[in-house]
Amino acid sequence: MVPGGACPSPSAPYGVLAGSGAGSGIEADQTPRPGRGGIGATGLSFQGHVRMTALSGSLNGSSSNSALVHALAEVPSDVDLTVWEGLDQLPYFRPDAPGDDQVGALRHAVAAADAVLIATPEYAGGMPGTLKNALDWLVGTGELYAKPVVVLSAAPSPERGHNARRWVEETVRMQGASVVDSYTVAIARSDGPQDLALRAGEALGRAIGALQRGAAISS
Ligand SMILES: Cc1cc2nc3c(=O)[nH]c(=O)nc-3n(C[C@H](O)[C@H](O)[C@H](O)COP(=O)(O)O)c2cc1C
Repeated sequence: MVPGGACPSPSAPYGVLAGSGAGSGIEADQTPRPGRGGIGATGLSFQGHVRMTALSGSLNGSSSNSALVHALAEVPSDVDLTVWEGLDQLPYFRPDAPGDDQVGALRHAVAAADAVLIATPEYAGGMPGTLKNALDWLVGTGELYAKPVVVLSAAPSPERGHNARRWVEETVRMQGASVVDSYTVAIARSDGPQDLALRAGEALGRAIGALQRGAAISS
C-alpha cells in the first residue's frame, strides 16, 4: 500500500475499496457494483473544488492527447487538474511485483484525485499498450474503485478513437470505476493554441457537467 492508496478487499473482484477524495469535491458512493455496463446514478455529488488527475495515453512528442490534457490544466476553473506524466517510466506490469516508486506515484496520483480524466489515442483499434500497462498497475490496489472517470480521445475527427475509448471504459469499469462521459475531441493538425484552448474549455465544461450529473454511462 502506498501513501493515499487503498487496502485490498476480498469482496471486490478486481478493484478494492479506495478513498475517493473524502472531504472535498466529489463524494462517491462506495457500494460495490458490477464492473461493467449499466446506466444509473453513481451517488456522486459535486461540491465545487474538485481534484482531477489527467493521463495522456500517448508518448508521441507532438501528441494531441497530451496537448489536450495540458490545455485542460490551463483552463481557469474550480477544478484542480494535475497532469500525471510518467507512463513511459513505469515498469512492465507484473502481478507478483509490488511496483516501484513510479508505480507508487501513479497510485497516489489516482487515489488523491476526486476524478480521473484519461485522454487516449487509438492504435490498431485499441488503447496504447503503455496506457493499459499503467491501468493494470491499479488493479490490485484499487485506486480506481468507485472513481468517476472521463474518457476522451483527441483525434483528427470525431468518429475516430471510439475503439480505444471503449477499451479504456471496459478496463476502468472492471476495476470498479464509474465512466461518466466518453467522447472524441476533434483536434486537427492545423489547430493552433487558441483552437486547443477552446476545445479544452469546452471539454472541461462538459467534464464538470458529467461529474455534476453523476450518472454512469455504458458504451
Ligand atoms: C501506429 C498507429 C496506429 C493507429 N491506429 C488507429 C486506429 O486504429 N484507429 C484510429 O482511429 N486512429 C488510429 N491512429 C491515429 C491516432 O489514433 C490519432 O492520430 C491520434 O490523434 C493520435 O493521438 P496523439 O497525437 O495523442 O498520439 C493510429 C496512429 C498510429 C501512429
